[in-house]
Amino acid sequence: MNVLILRLKIVVKKSCSALFFILLAAGMANAQQSLNNSKQEEKIRLLINQMTLQEKVSLLHANSKFYVSGIKRLGIPELALSDGPHGVRAEINRHDWAYAGWTTDSATCFPPGTALAATWNPELASKQGLVLGEEARFRQKDVLLGPGINIIRSPLGGRNFEYMSEDPFLISRMAVAYIKALQSKDVAVSVKHWVANNQETHRDSVDVQVSERAFREIYLPGFKAAVTEGGAYTVMAAYNKFRGDWCSENEYLNRQILRKEFGFKGVLMTDWAAAHSTVKAALSGLDLEMGTDIKDYNEWYFANPLIKAVEEGKVPISVVDEKVADVLRVMFKTKMFDEEHREKGKMNTPEHQKAAYNSAAEAAVLLQNKGDILPINFNKIQSIAIIGDNATRKHCGAGLSSEIKALYEITPLQAIKQKFGAHVKINFAQGYEKQSTFKEGSNRGQGNSENVDWKLIKEAVKVARESDVVIIFGGLNHDFDTESFDKQNMDLPYGQEVLMQEVTKANPNTVVVIVAGSPVKLADIVNRVPAILWSWYGGMEAGNAVADILSGKVNPSGKLPFTIPVALDQSPAHALGNFPGKDLKVNYEEDVLVGYRWFDTKKIQPQFPFGYGLSYTGFALNNFSTDKKIYEKNDIIHAKLVVKNTGSRYGAEVVQLYVSDLVCSVLRPEKELKAFEKVFLQPGETKTVELAVKVSDLAFYDEGKKSWKVEAGEFVLQLGNSSRNISKTVKISVE
Ligand code: BGC
Repeated sequence: MNVLILRLKIVVKKSCSALFFILLAAGMANAQQSLNNSKQEEKIRLLINQMTLQEKVSLLHANSKFYVSGIKRLGIPELALSDGPHGVRAEINRHDWAYAGWTTDSATCFPPGTALAATWNPELASKQGLVLGEEARFRQKDVLLGPGINIIRSPLGGRNFEYMSEDPFLISRMAVAYIKALQSKDVAVSVKHWVANNQETHRDSVDVQVSERAFREIYLPGFKAAVTEGGAYTVMAAYNKFRGDWCSENEYLNRQILRKEFGFKGVLMTDWAAAHSTVKAALSGLDLEMGTDIKDYNEWYFANPLIKAVEEGKVPISVVDEKVADVLRVMFKTKMFDEEHREKGKMNTPEHQKAAYNSAAEAAVLLQNKGDILPINFNKIQSIAIIGDNATRKHCGAGLSSEIKALYEITPLQAIKQKFGAHVKINFAQGYEKQSTFKEGSNRGQGNSENVDWKLIKEAVKVARESDVVIIFGGLNHDFDTESFDKQNMDLPYGQEVLMQEVTKANPNTVVVIVAGSPVKLADIVNRVPAILWSWYGGMEAGNAVADILSGKVNPSGKLPFTIPVALDQSPAHALGNFPGKDLKVNYEEDVLVGYRWFDTKKIQPQFPFGYGLSYTGFALNNFSTDKKIYEKNDIIHAKLVVKNTGSRYGAEVVQLYVSDLVCSVLRPEKELKAFEKVFLQPGETKTVELAVKVSDLAFYDEGKKSWKVEAGEFVLQLGNSSRNISKTVKISVE
């Protein structure tokens, strides 16, 4: 007995001293950090003290499309920026938008934002951040303009593909991982577009009206996490107006929320050509003007007019000094004054390409698989029909500012030929044709997108009849998923529905692969086609990833990061008739009921729900429990569950924890995502998963009190593998 107590004492003593040393080390690290910070601030002050007003202002506006002048005599380097969220954009001429024609700027092209979010795997976001950081450094860039983290509010949003999700929690987890990793490579991110930038129609003049509660609960959390947890060094102000003022000169957004509440100490820059004033923008917290459409850079708002405003006493010099300090701070953080110790960068290494492949492979969402038609056993078939424009189309190089000059891009047809062509006869048919013709002021080619080309359909039907299995690669392209335009409807363009129906009639062994970055209407497909796989824009490794999923080498594990409605008018902004707004105003009347929050609360059955995705294996979620039944407001809820792979293939399940507030003084969404984890399991394997949720994260924003509030009472924790497939619940109380 005595021996036992002695041992226990030793263990306690040992762990106490370990804890002591950990705390001591953490304390020392903090102290070191604040010492470094104060040294850095001192250096910043010294530099600013030596600058003329002209020199200060030269740091606050671009001197070309993507650069900001340095100050040679003080050793301040030029600041180099580059798009974009899923790859480092090819070099653009200094003074016009043409590409510079470099031979060293072919980059790794990742699947865009919605695809990354569909992996539900923050480790992949982190990996992408590391690669982008290395490639940005290789290209001598200091700021990479991404990630794009606006909420997907409507299925029609042109930039949905670049953004991540309709859910702020999923966005936050992915964005924080991406930002931390990218900035660890001595490159600043620019989180965009701050804020409520949810449509392209009238994007630079539309005025967004949204309740404070919806703003705080839906539109802000991603940005808050990016700044406060991710430590983003720069933020890009959006084109649109917010409650009457442009985002780039919005005192409430920029001073009150970003600077004061979030404690942001980095650079707030405009989007390209999104500055509208000198004095108002300067006083409301903007630092850096980019992309203004005036040829003489000296005439930009933050150039000579800013010097004049200071001289006339309209903008205090202290305000200019703050802005210069913000710019210099980002330069210090990214080691621009310490090139010797700065990340040197690498380009397009096999590791980078593997990261792009992994994201594409984990992003694909299996929507339907009747009769287990997938995976296709290529050893057992003699012939396969590959149909559709997206079987051969390359997408990396389109979409406007996020377009990438990819070192290579493997199309699905190329990959299937390369992997299986030696022993399987591959019959290709175009099926439908991209009919787009760019017309100024029109939504590029979307107008004629319903044309059915019977000649192409007949050819497709013929190859389908002659083949054992058929795969149709359809969906959209970047004439639809693009910056600058919203989609006009949710339809599959170019007569694809008819193509899919006719081909399936000819050969029921048909699989449809949807290549798209935003929801499309599948209502007329789901009952006719046995299998549907959503493969997104898959980046440079798109073809390899999709071929490996179709053949079963990789088991699909992606989950939808947005709801796919049956029809557009199911979705909140459209049901309420407030997209894209009227008279340049858009009122977010659906309030907090965005995406699945609307569908679940209003009990509307979508085509495919948020968080949904099938696998070639099966999973069971069991033993769901919490550490306590009753919590206090500062507690953390520790939930536990056991996941089992019940099938015969290796695979991954995303366990999702949603929370409902049973009784509340305000209307709350039926459920909200509060935690998730992607779990990888061998056949038959079980794993215990722990999910933690802060009780404070169950709060709603109380508009009256202007603060977050958790009302005492009961909450239900709902565990599932989609927002609509809840397999276990636990009730808890908050006191
Ligand atoms: C886009 C930004 C982009 C910038 C620079 C703008 O049109 O909205 O996202 O970073 O151009 O290309």
